[in-house]
Formats: sequence, structure tokens, C-alpha cells
Amino acid sequence: MPDIKQQISELRASALKELDGLSQAKELEEWRIGYLGKKSRLTELLRSLASLPIEERRELGQASNVLKTELEAVFKNKEHQLRCGELVAAGEMMDVTLPGRPFPAGHLHPVSQVLSEISDIFAGMGFQVVEGPEVEWDSYNFDALNIPPEHPSRDNMATFWLDSPPKEPEGWRMLLRTHTSPMQVRTMEQVAPPVRIVVPGRVFRYEATDATHLAMFTQIEGLAVDRGISMADLKGTLFEFARRFFGADRAVRFRTDFFPFVEPGAEMAIECAVCRGGGCRLCGGSGWIEILGAGMVHPRVLERAGIDSTVYSGFAFGIGIERIPMLHYGIDDIRLFYSGDLRFLKQF
Ligand code: PHE
Repeated sequence: MPDIKQQISELRASALKELDGLSQAKELEEWRIGYLGKKSRLTELLRSLASLPIEERRELGQASNVLKTELEAVFKNKEHQLRCGELVAAGEMMDVTLPGRPFPAGHLHPVSQVLSEISDIFAGMGFQVVEGPEVEWDSYNFDALNIPPEHPSRDNMATFWLDSPPKEPEGWRMLLRTHTSPMQVRTMEQVAPPVRIVVPGRVFRYEATDATHLAMFTQIEGLAVDRGISMADLKGTLFEFARRFFGADRAVRFRTDFFPFVEPGAEMAIECAVCRGGGCRLCGGSGWIEILGAGMVHPRVLERAGIDSTVYSGFAFGIGIERIPMLHYGIDDIRLFYSGDLRFLKQF
């Protein structure tokens, strides 16, 4: 009897080992005949049990049947595996058990991310988000903003003028807007106060490209016009923006500056994130990062847009967008944003 037991276990071992070694569906049949067929060793073994005493017959019979069931099951598995594998390889079947291929989903460009975050903050303070044309008349880009004809920014070396006929009868000339401020005028012409808008968008300057300059970059303009708007409203709004965007622990610096379309004019800077005001390479040693120009809308700009400057006043600001992620992440070359290099873009 131990002899038969031994045979069963040897048979099992060799059957499994051989089956495991099969790599083609056409080899299966030989294995099946050899181990499970009518003339197989297992069948012979089962037959030989008939001559044994009843007790042994029962025990060994059971063991042989367990082996038979097991071999049938592993055979089925292997058969399925090999046949499916061949069909999949031949392109006739799809293996639905394979994990799915990851779907390459993109994400917003870092500049778009900052723009929408800033737009959200101002929307939360009651500002509407509007957009304006990138191709603009010089009248809106300059004249209506109190920028006189002799101003250097109107020079051919500073602005992209379009080679198209002037608008008649006004004689306006077409250009790529150099800032988002013309939307101040367009909006005031269209809607009566109270006005509260922010204008995200691209602007263009005829500039030699280097690590800190591009001929195309991004701004977000802000404008609020109503009765009784004061410099305190401007400061309060911008400080609240800085608190929400940069965090309550970053110091804010507010200084006078000049822009022809505001009076008084101001500039706002944020404490450098890296040196915290001590001065480092990132902030050029000053400890501060200038992020926006602002001021009270010049009465001439209000009047030119058809708003009575004795009744209404307003404030405006223009934020440079690319500098914000540059300084936040320590990006030292502005050209990276528009080089289309996924190794750079995927980091944000
Ligand atoms: N338009 C100005 C610029 O591009 C920024 C600015 C906007 C300043 C609004 C004051 C008010 O530099």
C-alpha cells in the first residue's frame, strides 16, 4: 500500500511539472492522454485497486480520485491559458482581465492655474471676470488711458503695430495690446457704475526675449468704479488679495509709482518667499517682489469713457502673472513657460 501511495504522489508531481512546462496549445493533448486518458497511468492505477482489500481500496481509491479531479482542473486552466494567449497574440481575442491603460489626461498650464486662482479670489470679492481683445486700437491702448502721443511706449520699438489700414473716420491704428488696461475703458463705455471687473489675458511688447523678458506675457487687470471709492478701498482689496493668495504671514509693501492713467499711482510688492525680506538672488537682493501696478483711475480716463468724475471714482490695478509662479517655485527662466516642454510643464 505505501507503494501505491508513493506512486500517486510521484504521478502528481510529474504531471504538474510537465503541464507547467507546456508552452503551446498543441502539446496539451499528449499530456491529457498520458495522464488522464483511458490508457494513462492514473487509469491503470485505479483499475489495479480492484484487487486490494476493501479498506485499502477505499483509502487509495479516494486519493486517486482526488488526484484525478485535481489534474482535470489544472489541465482546464492551462488549456484556457494557452488557447487564450494564442488568440490574444493573434489579435483574435482581447484579454479583458488585463489592467486598463492609463488615460493620458493633461492639466492646466501653470499660468492658467495662477490666473484662475486669482480670478476666483476676486470673484469672491464681487468682481466679474471678463475678457477683451488681444488686437486693439491705439485709442484704447493709449489715448483713452491718458498716454500722450509722445510717450515712449508708443514707439515702434516697444509696441507691435499691425500693418493694417487705420480705422476711419477716427484714424485709429491697430496694435497688439501692451497691457490689459484698455479693458478699463471698454468696460466703462459699456456699463454704468457700479463696476467691478477683473480681466485676465495676454499682452504683447516688442521686446528682446531673455530669461526675464518675453514678447508675450500675461496680466490680470482689475477695475472698480462707484460713488465714494477711495484709496482705502484699493489698499484693502489688494491686501486682502495678497492675504488670500500668498498667505497671512507674507509682508506687503505699498509704494507710490507713476502710470499716466491713475492718480495717485502705486506699486505693490510681496515679501520674498525665499529670503523673507533678507535679500537673495531670487528677489535681486531687495527682499521684495513687485507684482502689480495700481492707482485711483485718473479723472481724465473716467471722463473719456463717459463717466462723471465729480460723482464717481474708481481704482484699477494690473498684476503680472508669470512672475508669481516664477518666484513661488524658483523658476529662473520665463521662456520655460512657453517652450512646450512637457518635462517642465508636468511638474505643476
Ligand atoms: N497697465 C499697467 C502695466 O502694464 C499696470 C497698471 C494697471 C497700473 C492698472 C495701474 C493700474 O504696467
